[in-house]
Amino acid sequence: MPDNTTEAQGATPVERADDVNTDVNTDVDATSSQRSEVTGAEIVFDNVVKKYPGQAKAAVGGMSLRIPAGETVMFVGPSGCGKTTSLKMINRLIDPTSGTITIDGKPISESKADDLRRRIGYVIQGGSLFPHMTVADNIAVVPGLLGWDKAKTTERVDELLDMVGLDPERYRDRFPRELSGGQQQRVGVARGLAADPPVILMDEPFGAVDPITRTRLQDEMLSIQRQLRKTIICVTHDIDEALKLGDRILILSEGGKIEQYDTPENILAAPANEFVEDFVGAGSALKSLALSRLDDVEIADAPTVRVGDSIVDVQRNATASGARNVVVLDERGRPVDFVTAAKLRGERVENRRREALQTVDHRATLNDALDAMLNSSHGAVVVTGGRGEYRGVASFQQIMTHIQDTHEAAESRRHGADAEATPDSVAVANTSSHTDFREQAEEGEEQ
Ligand SMILES: Nc1ncnc2c1ncn2[C@@H]1O[C@H](COP(=O)(O)OP(=O)(O)OP(=O)(O)O)[C@@H](O)[C@H]1O
Ligand SMILES: [Mg+2]
Repeated sequence: MPDNTTEAQGATPVERADDVNTDVNTDVDATSSQRSEVTGAEIVFDNVVKKYPGQAKAAVGGMSLRIPAGETVMFVGPSGCGKTTSLKMINRLIDPTSGTITIDGKPISESKADDLRRRIGYVIQGGSLFPHMTVADNIAVVPGLLGWDKAKTTERVDELLDMVGLDPERYRDRFPRELSGGQQQRVGVARGLAADPPVILMDEPFGAVDPITRTRLQDEMLSIQRQLRKTIICVTHDIDEALKLGDRILILSEGGKIEQYDTPENILAAPANEFVEDFVGAGSALKSLALSRLDDVEIADAPTVRVGDSIVDVQRNATASGARNVVVLDERGRPVDFVTAAKLRGERVENRRREALQTVDHRATLNDALDAMLNSSHGAVVVTGGRGEYRGVASFQQIMTHIQDTHEAAESRRHGADAEATPDSVAVANTSSHTDFREQAEEGEEQ
């Protein structure tokens, strides 16, 4: 019992709530409606070595690493480099030969292995479910160990099945052999999340599923993580999966040697060495387009006019301000056109939705924004907010500037004294490109 008390100090509010039998979901809902709060725990490796008996070389030869609370860190590296070994040392399935691992400041060697594993979700390839237990019973293993009552457990099981896209009615009473490989894998993910642990370890959790299910599971994991902010360590062989899911990526070579530990942006923009370059593979600049969103780019604010405005006034204002192109908004502030003011004809601005007008949501990736630009005759695209309202205009030039700035910032950060890169330090483009989009829109007009 004294051990449990110390455990609880390192545990999350959600976890402590279990003792008083408060529904975990209440906490989740409360946080997701506001800003989601970190419920994960910090994990620190300090010079951790694992040498298996009878092996000449260490599987992990002195790993030091800090994993911030609430982040997803992806472990990647060639087969046999020590990923699984590193992961299993966190929940003491394997004990290190030397060095220490702490969770929220407490060395794991001071916790009982069983207690530790109840606080750490573990998901492995194929799900590795207990074959003689139903789906529901498999998911309820840790809640059972924690002494949850039946009603709370049943509710949690159904909620998790929904979360991983399996209809509870259909699947909760099945046995693992009555599920496909991908379905078993999803049950494995649900089981790892069941007791709402602050730390989740995943070892190639989406390894054996088809690409479509894999994408779905990845997207589910992203949205779950946006809400829950656990500390997740996930091993993968797939660098694209790592780039998509990770707040940070740890690239390992043989013997658990850290080649680079950085944000996806920095790994793409400034690979630390040839090993990382090879591992990331070709097309890193293109890959980085999928990592940034229009929200990250400083977009320009084109002059706007309203449907029904006097064209004489619009043209006079445009001449006075030097702006040649204007965005036409409808009565609800949604863009309907992007035109050269001088080309407007008639008395009043019409609600003329041109087929060619391309708009993208402000949360779109730069990939999607470029796609829209390539599909429009403009070198620019009108950006909209959540309700389709006008936000600004993004140009090809602004996106290029953003990518270049990101690369330069990543490189100088890597070469500079400031070795500890942070995910939010991505540079934004300067605003000098206001004129650029006008010229590009202009070119588009001529076509
Ligand atoms: N129980 C064991 N006894 C002896 N050596 C082991 C044991 N488990 C792993 N190893 C060795 O330790 C090294 C690291 O293994 P580990 O399983 O951590 O690699 P991995 O990075 O997870 O590889 P993979 O991508 O193939 O899963 C390998 O050389 C492996 O052969
Ligand atoms: Mg492995």
